[in-house]
Amino acid sequence: MKKRLKTVLLALLGVLVVIQFFQIDKTNPPYDPAQDIIAQLQPPQRVAELLKNACYDCHSYETKYPWYTYIQPVGWWIENHIEEGSKHLNFSIWGTYTPKRKDRKLEEIAEEVKEGHMPLASYTWVHSEARLTDEQRQSIVTWAEEARRRLGYGPAAGEEPLSGDEKEESHEDEEGH
Ligand code: HEC
Repeated sequence: MKKRLKTVLLALLGVLVVIQFFQIDKTNPPYDPAQDIIAQLQPPQRVAELLKNACYDCHSYETKYPWYTYIQPVGWWIENHIEEGSKHLNFSIWGTYTPKRKDRKLEEIAEEVKEGHMPLASYTWVHSEARLTDEQRQSIVTWAEEARRRLGYGPAAGEEPLSGDEKEESHEDEEGH
């Protein structure tokens, strides 16, 4: 019995050693900074910072790979989040989305953040800077809804599709940081 356990443990250890040779690809694809959502929509500074800190690792081509992504199977698991996340929503290629897609994505950003589904809990668990307060969540939601209206969609946009040169400032910005 004891001998069998030892064999199993040794086999497991062997597997753990072998899988370390299968490292994930940690290079970010090249991207055009002019297509980035922050460059395109120019959100208030603090919203831009929240997006960078809480979303960009999974939803952009600016992923930072921490040391534990070198340890398998942790790295595989994280790579899967990054692939899935950026497939659904990629802030680095925002400018290439159609207006309709932009609208849908902004709507989903507001929804996912409001409901607390994003950023993923497994992410905020290790990235304390990505843990959002209610106020921070609200500022992302307010911005996303505002951006939808500027695109000519969204709640209450119906009768006044805004033209490109119309300047609309969010009144939510006045509260502190
Ligand atoms: C740890 C990686 C990770 C982080 C960080 C993260 N997301 Fe996600 N996100 C995902 C994954 C994976 C999916 C797709 C699967 C799912 O919906 O759970 C997703 C899906 C989404 C979707 C749905 C897109 C669609 O079209 O279905 C939105 C919107 C979104 N995330 C917004 C955000 C925002 C905003 C932030 C930052 C506040 C954020 N996410 C942070 C991994 C992440």
